[in-house]
Amino acid sequence: MDTICIIGLGYVGLPLACLCAEKGFRVKGLDLDKGIVESTNKGISHIKNKSLEAKVKKLKGKIEAFSEPNCIKGSNIVIVCVPTPAIGSKPDLNPLKRASSTIAKFLEKGQLVIVESTIYPGTVQEVVQPILEKTGLKAGTDFFLGHCPERIDPGNTVFSLEKIPRVLACLSEEGTGKAEKFYKSIINANILVLSSVKSAEAVKVVENTFRDINIAFVNELAKSFDKMEIDLKEVIKGASSKPFGFMPFYPGPGVGGHCIAQDPYYLIARAEEAGFQHSFLKLARSINESMPSYVSQLVEGALLKSGAKIKGAKVAVLGLSYKPDVDDTRKSPALEIIKLLEQKGCKINVFDPWVLEDGNVSSLEEALENVDAIVLATNHKIFIEKLKPSFLKGKNIRVVIDTRNALDKFGIEAEGILYKGIGR
Ligand SMILES: NC(=O)c1ccc[n+]([C@@H]2O[C@H](COP(=O)([O-])OP(=O)(O)OC[C@H]3O[C@@H](n4cnc5c(N)ncnc54)[C@H](O)[C@@H]3O)[C@@H](O)[C@H]2O)c1
Repeated sequence: MDTICIIGLGYVGLPLACLCAEKGFRVKGLDLDKGIVESTNKGISHIKNKSLEAKVKKLKGKIEAFSEPNCIKGSNIVIVCVPTPAIGSKPDLNPLKRASSTIAKFLEKGQLVIVESTIYPGTVQEVVQPILEKTGLKAGTDFFLGHCPERIDPGNTVFSLEKIPRVLACLSEEGTGKAEKFYKSIINANILVLSSVKSAEAVKVVENTFRDINIAFVNELAKSFDKMEIDLKEVIKGASSKPFGFMPFYPGPGVGGHCIAQDPYYLIARAEEAGFQHSFLKLARSINESMPSYVSQLVEGALLKSGAKIKGAKVAVLGLSYKPDVDDTRKSPALEIIKLLEQKGCKINVFDPWVLEDGNVSSLEEALENVDAIVLATNHKIFIEKLKPSFLKGKNIRVVIDTRNALDKFGIEAEGILYKGIGR
Protein backbone atom coordinates (compact mmCIF):
# COMPACT_ATOMS: atom_id res chain seq x y z
CA MET A 1 0.00 0.00 0.00
CA ASP A 2 1.24 3.51 -0.87
CA THR A 3 2.25 6.06 1.74
CA ILE A 4 0.50 9.40 1.41
CA CYS A 5 1.94 12.58 2.87
CA ILE A 6 -0.49 15.47 3.23
CA ILE A 7 0.97 18.95 3.58
CA GLY A 8 -1.43 21.08 5.66
CA LEU A 9 -3.98 19.47 7.98
CA GLY A 10 -6.72 22.11 7.82
CA TYR A 11 -10.33 22.06 6.57
CA VAL A 12 -9.13 20.29 3.41
CA GLY A 13 -6.11 18.26 4.55
CA LEU A 14 -7.55 16.71 7.72
CA PRO A 15 -10.68 15.17 6.11
CA LEU A 16 -8.49 13.95 3.24
CA ALA A 17 -6.05 12.37 5.69
CA CYS A 18 -9.00 10.58 7.33
CA LEU A 19 -10.32 9.33 4.01
CA CYS A 20 -6.90 7.99 2.94
CA ALA A 21 -6.41 6.30 6.33
CA GLU A 22 -9.89 4.76 6.12
CA LYS A 23 -8.97 3.32 2.73
CA GLY A 24 -5.94 1.64 4.28
CA PHE A 25 -3.13 3.92 3.13
CA ARG A 26 -0.30 4.77 5.49
CA VAL A 27 -0.95 8.46 6.10
CA LYS A 28 1.46 11.09 7.27
CA GLY A 29 0.50 14.73 7.76
CA LEU A 30 2.81 17.72 7.94
CA ASP A 31 1.66 20.98 9.49
CA LEU A 32 3.42 24.14 10.64
CA ASP A 33 0.96 24.44 13.52
CA LYS A 34 2.30 22.35 16.41
CA GLY A 35 -1.11 22.40 18.14
CA ILE A 36 -2.70 20.74 15.09
CA VAL A 37 0.06 18.12 14.96
CA GLU A 38 -0.35 17.34 18.66
CA SER A 39 -4.14 17.16 18.62
CA THR A 40 -4.22 14.99 15.48
CA ASN A 41 -1.79 12.53 17.05
CA LYS A 42 -4.00 12.41 20.13
CA GLY A 43 -7.01 11.60 17.95
CA ILE A 44 -8.59 15.02 18.45
CA SER A 45 -9.91 17.05 15.52
CA HIS A 46 -8.98 20.73 15.76
CA ILE A 47 -12.02 21.43 13.55
CA LYS A 48 -15.48 21.35 15.16
CA ASN A 49 -17.47 18.88 13.09
CA LYS A 50 -19.14 15.83 14.60
CA SER A 51 -18.35 13.40 11.80
CA LEU A 52 -14.73 14.60 11.43
CA GLU A 53 -14.22 14.52 15.22
CA ALA A 54 -15.43 10.89 15.31
CA LYS A 55 -13.17 9.91 12.41
CA VAL A 56 -10.01 11.52 13.82
CA LYS A 57 -10.72 9.78 17.13
CA LYS A 58 -11.28 6.41 15.48
CA LEU A 59 -8.20 6.79 13.30
CA LYS A 60 -5.89 7.73 16.18
CA GLY A 61 -2.45 6.33 15.37
CA LYS A 62 -3.38 5.78 11.72
CA ILE A 63 -2.72 9.40 10.78
CA GLU A 64 0.79 10.27 11.88
CA ALA A 65 1.18 14.03 12.12
CA PHE A 66 4.56 15.76 12.05
CA SER A 67 6.10 19.20 12.39
CA GLU A 68 9.35 18.03 10.84
CA PRO A 69 9.31 17.97 7.03
CA ASN A 70 11.53 14.89 6.73
CA CYS A 71 8.28 12.93 7.14
CA ILE A 72 7.91 13.51 3.37
CA LYS A 73 10.74 11.03 2.79
CA GLY A 74 9.58 7.71 1.45
CA SER A 75 6.05 8.90 0.57
CA ASN A 76 4.74 7.73 -2.79
CA ILE A 77 2.20 10.53 -3.02
CA VAL A 78 2.50 14.05 -1.60
CA ILE A 79 -0.67 16.14 -1.53
CA VAL A 80 -0.53 19.88 -0.97
CA CYS A 81 -3.44 21.35 1.01
CA VAL A 82 -1.96 24.61 2.26
CA PRO A 83 -3.88 27.91 2.27
CA THR A 84 -3.95 30.16 -0.78
CA PRO A 85 -5.16 33.42 0.75
CA ALA A 86 -5.65 36.82 -0.77
CA ILE A 87 -4.33 39.89 0.98
CA GLY A 88 -6.88 42.50 0.05
CA SER A 89 -7.38 41.67 -3.61
CA LYS A 90 -3.87 40.26 -4.12
CA PRO A 91 -3.26 36.50 -4.23
CA ASP A 92 -0.68 35.39 -1.70
CA LEU A 93 1.17 32.32 -2.94
CA ASN A 94 3.76 32.38 -0.17
CA PRO A 95 2.31 29.40 1.75
CA LEU A 96 2.30 27.38 -1.50
CA LYS A 97 5.85 28.45 -2.37
CA ARG A 98 7.03 27.55 1.11
CA ALA A 99 5.34 24.14 0.95
CA SER A 100 6.89 23.52 -2.49
CA SER A 101 10.38 24.38 -1.19
CA THR A 102 9.82 21.97 1.70
CA ILE A 103 8.77 19.18 -0.66
CA ALA A 104 11.79 19.92 -2.89
CA LYS A 105 14.13 19.11 0.01
CA PHE A 106 12.82 15.57 0.13
CA LEU A 107 11.64 15.03 -3.44
CA GLU A 108 12.36 11.52 -4.69
CA LYS A 109 12.32 9.87 -8.09
CA GLY A 110 8.91 8.41 -8.90
CA GLN A 111 7.02 10.54 -6.36
CA LEU A 112 3.63 11.95 -7.33
CA VAL A 113 2.98 15.50 -6.12
CA ILE A 114 -0.60 16.74 -6.32
CA VAL A 115 -1.70 20.26 -5.48
CA GLU A 116 -5.25 20.34 -4.10
CA SER A 117 -5.13 23.97 -2.94
CA THR A 118 -7.16 26.42 -5.03
CA ILE A 119 -4.85 28.26 -7.43
CA TYR A 120 -5.07 30.37 -10.57
CA PRO A 121 -4.42 28.83 -13.97
CA GLY A 122 -0.69 28.44 -14.51
CA THR A 123 0.38 28.18 -10.85
CA VAL A 124 1.53 24.56 -10.93
CA GLN A 125 3.75 25.08 -13.97
CA GLU A 126 4.90 28.61 -13.21
CA VAL A 127 5.33 28.46 -9.43
CA VAL A 128 5.44 24.89 -8.11
CA GLN A 129 7.28 23.10 -10.95
CA PRO A 130 10.32 25.44 -11.03
CA ILE A 131 10.77 25.12 -7.26
CA LEU A 132 10.61 21.32 -7.42
CA GLU A 133 12.89 21.16 -10.46
CA LYS A 134 15.63 23.08 -8.63
CA THR A 135 16.46 19.62 -7.31
CA GLY A 136 17.60 18.60 -10.79
CA LEU A 137 14.70 16.16 -11.11
CA LYS A 138 12.38 16.71 -14.08
CA ALA A 139 8.60 16.87 -13.71
CA GLY A 140 6.74 14.38 -15.88
CA THR A 141 9.66 11.95 -16.09
CA ASP A 142 11.60 11.80 -12.79
CA PHE A 143 8.63 12.76 -10.64
CA PHE A 144 4.97 13.44 -11.39
CA LEU A 145 3.11 16.65 -10.81
CA GLY A 146 -0.50 17.65 -11.18
CA HIS A 147 -3.57 19.35 -9.83
CA CYS A 148 -6.78 17.92 -8.44
CA PRO A 149 -8.74 20.84 -6.98
CA GLU A 150 -10.47 20.16 -3.69
CA ARG A 151 -14.23 20.68 -3.71
CA ILE A 152 -15.05 19.79 -0.11
CA ASP A 153 -17.98 21.69 1.39
CA PRO A 154 -17.45 21.71 5.18
CA GLY A 155 -20.65 21.00 7.06
CA ASN A 156 -22.36 19.45 4.01
CA THR A 157 -23.72 16.12 5.20
CA VAL A 158 -25.09 15.07 1.79
CA PHE A 159 -21.94 15.56 -0.27
CA SER A 160 -19.16 14.12 1.85
CA LEU A 161 -15.62 14.15 0.44
CA GLU A 162 -15.96 10.61 -0.85
CA LYS A 163 -19.05 11.46 -2.90
CA ILE A 164 -17.81 14.58 -4.67
CA PRO A 165 -16.71 14.09 -8.30
CA ARG A 166 -13.24 15.37 -9.11
CA VAL A 167 -11.35 16.82 -12.04
CA LEU A 168 -7.64 16.25 -12.39
CA ALA A 169 -4.72 16.73 -14.72
CA CYS A 170 -1.00 16.01 -14.52
CA LEU A 171 1.96 17.10 -16.60
CA SER A 172 2.46 13.65 -18.13
CA GLU A 173 0.29 10.70 -19.03
CA GLU A 174 2.10 8.47 -16.56
CA GLY A 175 1.43 10.97 -13.77
CA THR A 176 -2.23 11.26 -14.75
CA GLY A 177 -2.55 7.48 -14.67
CA LYS A 178 -1.07 7.29 -11.18
CA ALA A 179 -3.22 10.17 -9.89
CA GLU A 180 -6.41 8.74 -11.40
CA LYS A 181 -5.70 5.33 -9.85
CA PHE A 182 -5.14 6.95 -6.46
CA TYR A 183 -8.32 9.07 -6.51
CA LYS A 184 -10.35 6.12 -7.79
CA SER A 185 -9.18 4.18 -4.74
CA ILE A 186 -10.38 6.82 -2.27
CA ILE A 187 -13.52 8.34 -3.74
CA ASN A 188 -16.77 6.88 -4.89
CA ALA A 189 -17.60 9.41 -7.61
CA ASN A 190 -16.67 10.29 -11.13
CA ILE A 191 -13.15 11.49 -11.95
CA LEU A 192 -12.83 13.63 -15.02
CA VAL A 193 -9.34 13.79 -16.49
CA LEU A 194 -8.65 17.09 -18.26
CA SER A 195 -6.09 17.65 -20.97
CA SER A 196 -4.09 20.29 -19.12
CA VAL A 197 -3.21 21.28 -15.58
CA LYS A 198 -4.14 24.86 -16.48
CA SER A 199 -7.70 23.75 -17.28
CA ALA A 200 -7.98 21.88 -13.97
CA GLU A 201 -6.77 24.99 -12.14
CA ALA A 202 -9.29 27.14 -14.02
CA VAL A 203 -12.17 24.77 -13.18
CA LYS A 204 -11.99 25.47 -9.46
CA VAL A 205 -11.68 29.25 -9.70
CA VAL A 206 -14.52 29.30 -12.22
CA GLU A 207 -16.77 27.23 -9.90
CA ASN A 208 -16.22 29.61 -7.02
CA THR A 209 -16.44 32.73 -9.15
CA PHE A 210 -19.75 31.45 -10.53
CA ARG A 211 -21.10 31.39 -6.98
CA ASP A 212 -19.72 34.82 -6.18
CA ILE A 213 -21.29 36.39 -9.27
CA ASN A 214 -24.69 34.81 -8.71
CA ILE A 215 -24.72 35.81 -5.05
CA ALA A 216 -23.79 39.36 -6.10
CA PHE A 217 -26.72 39.32 -8.54
CA VAL A 218 -29.26 38.47 -5.84
CA ASN A 219 -27.60 40.84 -3.36
CA GLU A 220 -28.04 43.65 -5.87
CA LEU A 221 -31.65 42.57 -6.46
CA ALA A 222 -32.18 42.69 -2.69
CA LYS A 223 -31.19 46.36 -2.58
CA SER A 224 -33.33 47.21 -5.59
CA PHE A 225 -36.40 45.16 -4.54
CA ASP A 226 -36.26 46.71 -1.10
CA LYS A 227 -36.89 50.11 -2.70
CA MET A 228 -39.74 48.65 -4.78
CA GLU A 229 -41.17 46.77 -1.80
CA ILE A 230 -40.95 43.39 -3.49
CA ASP A 231 -40.21 40.32 -1.40
CA LEU A 232 -37.12 38.83 -3.08
CA LYS A 233 -37.43 35.57 -1.15
CA GLU A 234 -40.83 35.01 -2.69
CA VAL A 235 -39.58 36.00 -6.14
CA ILE A 236 -36.74 33.47 -5.93
CA LYS A 237 -39.24 30.83 -4.83
CA GLY A 238 -41.39 31.73 -7.81
CA ALA A 239 -38.52 31.67 -10.31
CA SER A 240 -37.35 28.33 -8.88
CA SER A 241 -40.63 26.76 -9.96
CA LYS A 242 -39.28 26.85 -13.52
CA PRO A 243 -37.69 23.43 -13.96
CA PHE A 244 -34.99 24.59 -16.37
CA GLY A 245 -32.83 27.64 -16.96
CA PHE A 246 -32.96 28.98 -13.40
CA MET A 247 -30.86 28.12 -10.39
CA PRO A 248 -31.67 29.75 -7.05
CA PHE A 249 -29.09 31.78 -5.16
CA TYR A 250 -29.95 33.67 -2.01
CA PRO A 251 -29.02 37.14 -0.76
CA GLY A 252 -27.21 37.60 2.51
CA PRO A 253 -24.86 39.75 4.57
CA GLY A 254 -21.94 39.22 2.15
CA VAL A 255 -19.69 36.33 1.21
CA GLY A 256 -17.13 34.87 3.59
CA GLY A 257 -14.84 31.91 4.03
CA HIS A 258 -11.47 30.99 2.59
CA CYS A 259 -12.82 30.27 -0.91
CA ILE A 260 -15.59 32.26 -2.56
CA ALA A 261 -14.66 35.59 -0.97
CA GLN A 262 -11.19 35.47 -2.49
CA ASP A 263 -10.83 32.94 -5.30
CA PRO A 264 -12.28 35.41 -7.86
CA TYR A 265 -9.31 37.64 -7.02
CA TYR A 266 -7.00 34.82 -8.14
CA LEU A 267 -8.69 34.78 -11.53
CA ILE A 268 -8.83 38.58 -11.78
CA ALA A 269 -5.12 38.90 -10.96
CA ARG A 270 -4.03 36.18 -13.40
CA ALA A 271 -6.13 37.61 -16.22
CA GLU A 272 -4.74 41.08 -15.52
CA GLU A 273 -1.21 39.70 -15.88
CA ALA A 274 -2.26 38.20 -19.19
CA GLY A 275 -3.66 41.57 -20.32
CA PHE A 276 -7.38 41.18 -19.60
CA GLN A 277 -9.53 43.18 -17.18
CA HIS A 278 -12.42 41.26 -15.59
CA SER A 279 -14.92 44.07 -14.94
CA PHE A 280 -17.85 41.68 -14.26
CA LEU A 281 -15.91 39.74 -11.60
CA LYS A 282 -14.68 42.92 -9.93
CA LEU A 283 -18.22 44.32 -9.81
CA ALA A 284 -19.49 41.10 -8.19
CA ARG A 285 -16.77 41.33 -5.56
CA SER A 286 -17.58 44.96 -4.81
CA ILE A 287 -21.32 44.25 -4.50
CA ASN A 288 -20.71 41.35 -2.12
CA GLU A 289 -18.17 43.37 -0.15
CA SER A 290 -20.72 46.20 0.21
CA MET A 291 -23.24 43.98 2.01
CA PRO A 292 -21.96 44.35 5.61
CA SER A 293 -22.28 48.11 5.20
CA TYR A 294 -25.79 47.64 3.77
CA VAL A 295 -26.67 45.53 6.83
CA SER A 296 -25.38 48.24 9.16
CA GLN A 297 -27.61 50.76 7.32
CA LEU A 298 -30.58 48.41 7.75
CA VAL A 299 -29.86 48.25 11.49
CA GLU A 300 -29.66 52.03 11.68
CA GLY A 301 -32.90 52.50 9.71
CA ALA A 302 -34.81 49.91 11.72
CA LEU A 303 -33.63 51.35 15.04
CA LEU A 304 -34.73 54.82 13.97
CA LYS A 305 -38.15 53.45 13.01
CA SER A 306 -38.43 51.85 16.42
CA GLY A 307 -37.62 55.18 18.06
CA ALA A 308 -34.00 54.44 19.00
CA LYS A 309 -30.74 56.00 17.83
CA ILE A 310 -27.88 53.85 16.58
CA LYS A 311 -25.37 55.73 18.72
CA GLY A 312 -25.45 54.06 22.09
CA ALA A 313 -27.82 51.29 20.96
CA LYS A 314 -27.24 47.80 22.32
CA VAL A 315 -27.28 45.19 19.55
CA ALA A 316 -26.90 41.41 19.69
CA VAL A 317 -24.99 39.96 16.72
CA LEU A 318 -25.81 36.26 16.51
CA GLY A 319 -23.31 34.17 14.57
CA LEU A 320 -19.70 34.79 13.64
CA SER A 321 -18.85 31.96 11.24
CA TYR A 322 -19.25 32.60 7.55
CA LYS A 323 -21.88 29.90 7.07
CA PRO A 324 -24.16 27.78 9.26
CA ASP A 325 -22.94 25.01 11.52
CA VAL A 326 -19.21 25.42 10.94
CA ASP A 327 -16.52 26.98 13.16
CA ASP A 328 -14.74 28.87 10.37
CA THR A 329 -14.81 32.66 10.73
CA ARG A 330 -12.34 33.51 7.96
CA LYS A 331 -13.49 36.58 6.05
CA SER A 332 -16.91 36.25 7.69
CA PRO A 333 -19.21 39.22 6.97
CA ALA A 334 -20.29 39.11 10.63
CA LEU A 335 -16.87 40.45 11.64
CA GLU A 336 -17.23 43.44 9.32
CA ILE A 337 -20.82 44.06 10.47
CA ILE A 338 -19.65 44.19 14.11
CA LYS A 339 -16.84 46.59 13.19
CA LEU A 340 -19.22 48.92 11.33
CA LEU A 341 -21.84 48.89 14.08
CA GLU A 342 -19.18 49.67 16.67
CA GLN A 343 -18.01 52.57 14.51
CA LYS A 344 -21.60 53.86 14.59
CA GLY A 345 -21.47 53.80 18.38
CA CYS A 346 -23.33 50.54 19.12
CA LYS A 347 -22.52 48.33 22.05
CA ILE A 348 -22.46 44.77 20.75
CA ASN A 349 -23.19 41.42 22.37
CA VAL A 350 -21.52 38.81 20.19
CA PHE A 351 -22.61 35.19 20.45
CA ASP A 352 -21.80 32.15 18.35
CA PRO A 353 -22.09 28.67 19.90
CA TRP A 354 -19.66 27.31 17.25
CA VAL A 355 -16.92 29.75 18.21
CA LEU A 356 -17.93 30.63 21.75
CA GLU A 357 -14.41 31.84 22.56
CA ASP A 358 -14.65 34.60 19.92
CA GLY A 359 -17.81 36.14 21.41
CA ASN A 360 -18.23 38.31 24.51
CA VAL A 361 -21.23 36.56 26.05
CA SER A 362 -21.66 32.89 26.79
CA SER A 363 -25.28 32.13 25.99
CA LEU A 364 -28.10 33.19 23.70
CA GLU A 365 -30.10 34.35 26.70
CA GLU A 366 -27.24 36.58 27.85
CA ALA A 367 -26.81 37.91 24.31
CA LEU A 368 -30.45 38.99 24.15
CA GLU A 369 -30.58 40.74 27.53
CA ASN A 370 -31.79 44.35 27.24
CA VAL A 371 -30.85 44.76 23.56
CA ASP A 372 -32.44 47.27 21.20
CA ALA A 373 -32.03 44.99 18.17
CA ILE A 374 -30.76 41.59 17.12
CA VAL A 375 -28.83 40.87 13.92
CA LEU A 376 -28.94 37.25 12.80
CA ALA A 377 -25.60 37.08 10.97
CA THR A 378 -25.27 33.29 10.62
CA ASN A 379 -28.19 30.90 10.22
CA HIS A 380 -26.92 28.18 12.57
CA LYS A 381 -29.57 25.49 13.02
CA ILE A 382 -29.74 26.18 16.74
CA PHE A 383 -30.63 29.84 16.11
CA ILE A 384 -33.41 28.97 13.67
CA GLU A 385 -34.84 26.49 16.17
CA LYS A 386 -34.72 28.96 19.07
CA LEU A 387 -35.54 32.35 17.56
CA LYS A 388 -39.27 31.76 17.25
CA PRO A 389 -41.64 34.77 17.35
CA SER A 390 -42.98 33.99 20.85
CA PHE A 391 -39.44 33.49 22.21
CA LEU A 392 -38.36 36.87 20.78
CA LYS A 393 -41.46 38.52 22.20
CA GLY A 394 -40.74 36.95 25.58
CA LYS A 395 -37.24 38.44 25.49
CA ASN A 396 -38.70 41.87 24.76
CA ILE A 397 -36.93 42.12 21.38
CA ARG A 398 -38.18 45.10 19.37
CA VAL A 399 -36.08 44.92 16.17
CA VAL A 400 -34.88 41.88 14.20
CA ILE A 401 -32.46 42.15 11.30
CA ASP A 402 -32.45 38.77 9.61
CA THR A 403 -29.48 38.82 7.20
CA ARG A 404 -30.18 35.22 6.12
CA ASN A 405 -33.95 35.55 5.57
CA ALA A 406 -34.16 32.48 7.78
CA LEU A 407 -36.65 33.51 10.47
CA ASP A 408 -40.45 33.62 10.47
CA LYS A 409 -40.96 37.20 9.17
CA PHE A 410 -44.75 37.19 9.38
CA GLY A 411 -44.87 35.51 12.79
CA ILE A 412 -42.33 37.99 14.15
CA GLU A 413 -44.26 40.95 12.74
CA ALA A 414 -47.48 39.54 14.21
CA GLU A 415 -45.82 39.83 17.64
CA GLY A 416 -45.37 43.57 16.99
CA ILE A 417 -41.63 43.24 16.39
CA LEU A 418 -40.00 45.23 13.59
CA TYR A 419 -38.53 42.71 11.12
CA LYS A 420 -36.11 43.46 8.29
CA GLY A 421 -34.61 40.83 6.01
CA ILE A 422 -32.32 41.23 3.00
CA GLY A 423 -34.58 42.16 0.11
CA ARG A 424 -37.77 41.58 2.10
N1 LIG B 1 -11.97 25.41 3.42
C1 LIG B 1 -12.66 24.96 2.38
O1 LIG B 1 -13.88 24.78 2.44
C2 LIG B 1 -11.97 24.63 1.06
C3 LIG B 1 -12.68 23.91 0.09
C4 LIG B 1 -12.05 23.61 -1.10
C5 LIG B 1 -10.76 24.07 -1.33
N2 LIG B 1 -10.10 24.78 -0.40
C6 LIG B 1 -8.73 25.22 -0.68
O2 LIG B 1 -7.85 24.32 -0.01
C7 LIG B 1 -6.68 25.01 0.47
C8 LIG B 1 -6.55 24.82 1.97
O3 LIG B 1 -7.65 25.43 2.61
P1 LIG B 1 -8.03 25.11 4.12
O4 LIG B 1 -9.35 25.73 4.35
O5 LIG B 1 -7.84 23.65 4.41
O6 LIG B 1 -6.90 25.94 4.89
P2 LIG B 1 -6.55 25.81 6.44
O7 LIG B 1 -5.95 27.11 6.82
O8 LIG B 1 -7.72 25.28 7.19
O9 LIG B 1 -5.44 24.68 6.50
C9 LIG B 1 -4.18 24.80 5.95
C10 LIG B 1 -3.16 24.18 6.89
O10 LIG B 1 -1.89 24.23 6.24
C11 LIG B 1 -0.90 24.50 7.21
N3 LIG B 1 0.26 25.03 6.49
C12 LIG B 1 0.42 26.22 5.89
N4 LIG B 1 1.61 26.28 5.27
C13 LIG B 1 2.22 25.10 5.48
C14 LIG B 1 3.48 24.55 5.10
N5 LIG B 1 4.34 25.24 4.36
N6 LIG B 1 3.78 23.31 5.51
C15 LIG B 1 2.92 22.60 6.26
N7 LIG B 1 1.72 23.05 6.65
C16 LIG B 1 1.38 24.29 6.27
C17 LIG B 1 -1.57 25.48 8.14
O11 LIG B 1 -0.94 25.48 9.41
C18 LIG B 1 -3.01 24.95 8.20
O12 LIG B 1 -3.20 24.05 9.27
C19 LIG B 1 -6.86 26.46 0.03
O13 LIG B 1 -6.25 26.63 -1.20
C20 LIG B 1 -8.37 26.58 -0.14
O14 LIG B 1 -8.72 27.60 -1.05
C21 LIG B 1 -10.67 25.06 0.82
